[in-house]
Amino acid sequence: MAKAKRPPFGGFYNQPSIEDDAELTRVGPGTPCGNYLRRFWQPIAMVSEVKDMPIPVRALGEDLVLFRDKSGRLGLVHKRCSHRGTSLEYGIIGEQGIRCAYHGWAFDIDGTVLETPSEPQGSRLREAVCQGAYRTHEFAGLVFAYMGPPEETPDFPVYDTLVWPDGNHLVPYKLDMPCNWLQVHENAADPIHTAYLHSIVTGVQFTPAFAELPTIEFLDTPLGLLSVATRRVGEQLWIRASDVILPNVAQFGTGFVDGSKEKFALCAAFTRWIVPLDDTNCIVIGVRHFNDVIDPLKQGREDQIGLGKIDLMGQTDERPYAERQKSPGDWDAMVAQGPITVHRNENLSSTDKGVAQLRRQIRTGVRALQAGGLPAQPRRYGKGIVPTYNNETILRVPRLRGDDVALIRNFGHMVCNAAIESAELPPGPRQRHVEDVVRAMQDQGAFYVQANDRSSLEPANV
Ligand code: FES
Ligand SMILES: [Fe+2]
Repeated sequence: MAKAKRPPFGGFYNQPSIEDDAELTRVGPGTPCGNYLRRFWQPIAMVSEVKDMPIPVRALGEDLVLFRDKSGRLGLVHKRCSHRGTSLEYGIIGEQGIRCAYHGWAFDIDGTVLETPSEPQGSRLREAVCQGAYRTHEFAGLVFAYMGPPEETPDFPVYDTLVWPDGNHLVPYKLDMPCNWLQVHENAADPIHTAYLHSIVTGVQFTPAFAELPTIEFLDTPLGLLSVATRRVGEQLWIRASDVILPNVAQFGTGFVDGSKEKFALCAAFTRWIVPLDDTNCIVIGVRHFNDVIDPLKQGREDQIGLGKIDLMGQTDERPYAERQKSPGDWDAMVAQGPITVHRNENLSSTDKGVAQLRRQIRTGVRALQAGGLPAQPRRYGKGIVPTYNNETILRVPRLRGDDVALIRNFGHMVCNAAIESAELPPGPRQRHVEDVVRAMQDQGAFYVQANDRSSLEPANV
């Protein structure tokens, strides 16, 4: 519903609300969204952070301790010892599990109390107690945890982009964000900002091609939505289509496209999760992909990727404030939305349809779980691999007389639909299939169809 317009100089009447959208933003134990996020495997640390000492970690409002026992198994347990609450970050790692420093209780990685050494012989106290613990899984240099009901642990989803092309090299990274998780995740469904924040308003941050205003579209996928930005770069059209995967995953193409060479890349340069530490802090944690399909010119910088760093400008607060004020990056824009963005204070526009669509999808998942349903798990190819839809596509499609915006929109729509409709094929043949389909459309002039669809000019509805 439209808000009443306030008079000029009417700040007095225009005080912002402080009531956030708690159904989507609050993540602690027992909250609707916290329960929902706990139904999915979440990366909580980089494997390289786990050395020979226990480390305190936070996730979804819980204080935890992560360690690797001397037999090589990862343990993730509640931070406070179930005897009298001292932190297990001071625990002594053993061959099997961890021993609390205070009175020597020993816990296995699943929380089983192995010993209560100060108890009299024959004591059965240890059988009555269990330390809170969670399952873990190591993948691609990341430690994932499942923090939901253990009897309903889902299979670990291996996205196709993580295992294709053959030889794909994954480099893990983790960045801190002192704000609510949702506003960071929503950035993935807001492609118009790549033109304004990363070029038009602040100067070129990635490549000059980003300054071209894209047509945007948001397609439903079995995983969530595909956020499609299509631009003209001279004689070429360039699609940057980003997977936004429920509940908190996204994938992106590269930041260094200049649009000069044709490209078919049904894969990703980044796969990342936005994992809440609590309601007002989160981490961006994921992997950068190195392969010849997504980055044929080898422009990625592996040495700039890791704990607190990524080879893309503006993703951290490490630049001086004066510099960030002149040319703010993603970190500045998202953190500056406040500790928790209050949706009531927003005025969503026609370019915010992806944000609105994402919120609706998450809200639907949260409510379905509350109503007793289980979150849908992604469909898979054989061998448990999950098809995804991220693509970076560049093709020669010259401007002709007529509506070039409609041509650009048609191109983005048709190529991304070909990617969505081919999800039953395994990754390699699928890439070739989509290229064949798109080149056939190009030969037939199928993109040159006038569109009268004005719906994209209407504001978004949440
Ligand atoms: S507080 Fe841990 S053993 Fe006593
Ligand atoms: Fe961005």
